[in-house]
Amino acid sequence: MAVAANVSEIDHGRDILRDSRGVIVLTGAGLSVDSGLMTFRGSGGHWKKHRPEDLATPEAFHRDPRLVWEWYEERRRAAAKSRPNDAHRAIAEFALRRDDVVIATQNVDGLHTLAAREAVMGDKYSKQPRVSFTDGGDANRALPLELHGTFYNVRCTSCGLCREHRDLIDVSSKETLPHCDDCGSLMRPDVVWFGEPLGVVIERAFDCASRSDACLIVGTSAVVQPAANVAMVTHQAGGVIIEVNPNETLLTPMCEVSLRDTAAMAVPPLLTPDVDG
Ligand code: APR
Ligand code: ZN
Repeated sequence: MAVAANVSEIDHGRDILRDSRGVIVLTGAGLSVDSGLMTFRGSGGHWKKHRPEDLATPEAFHRDPRLVWEWYEERRRAAAKSRPNDAHRAIAEFALRRDDVVIATQNVDGLHTLAAREAVMGDKYSKQPRVSFTDGGDANRALPLELHGTFYNVRCTSCGLCREHRDLIDVSSKETLPHCDDCGSLMRPDVVWFGEPLGVVIERAFDCASRSDACLIVGTSAVVQPAANVAMVTHQAGGVIIEVNPNETLLTPMCEVSLRDTAAMAVPPLLTPDVDG
């Protein structure tokens, strides 16, 4: 069980954020654990049942598209039933209140986007927005750079047609998997697999990171490149790293503050409105 982060560490993190001019928030699967979703490498994580090479590579999809879609559909259905947790909400509201915060996520579960929408529109329970825009702020500020894509979009393996697909997918046979409306070829999840390039989104994240003087990393083991390098770009540009993770990571030695706690416990007190600078 995580040792709860102590108040002085959280206060130190708050001081850094309050004084910062430019914050990039890098998140990983651990952020969504408090929404009931699994991580990849932790105890009970997704990879416990499969090897990454068997599922999250173009070769794996070519070899057995049904198995790969079965794995993604299991995760899509779990994510569709989950809700943003207090950490997603705190990050969204932080990005909406300030105009110098960028969110970059490795997650493909769409929970950051849902948290942003709920912050502006209210959630399905209370139609009350949680952030009022005095400055006419842009609701899109809380939408993340999705470094690894989203499994709510599908992309044609032949012509590249990409579209949203939130309906349940019948993974019982290759024939029942999603096929392209234009050319009839098989559609794949619109996510980034091992060995695939991240495209311009990572360049945008590195650019933001190089101009940020603080990087908040939440719930990532920081083992997958180039995404994990976002924090290093801020660090190498002279910025400081604040980490929220119940466990140590590869980046811990570079962190100015490491909060050994869960995201839902440590992020909300770290991002209260008085750190808006
Ligand atoms: N709150 C915060 N962090 C948590 C929590 C929690 N409640 N529970 C676990 N964690 C931490 C773990 O200690 C671990 O360091 O979340 C991290 C999850 O690490 P990974 O499972 O490796 O997930 P992530 O870092 O997002 O993986 C990066 O690898 O498989 C690819 O594309 C996939 O985007 C993924 C990438
Ligand atoms: Zn097509």
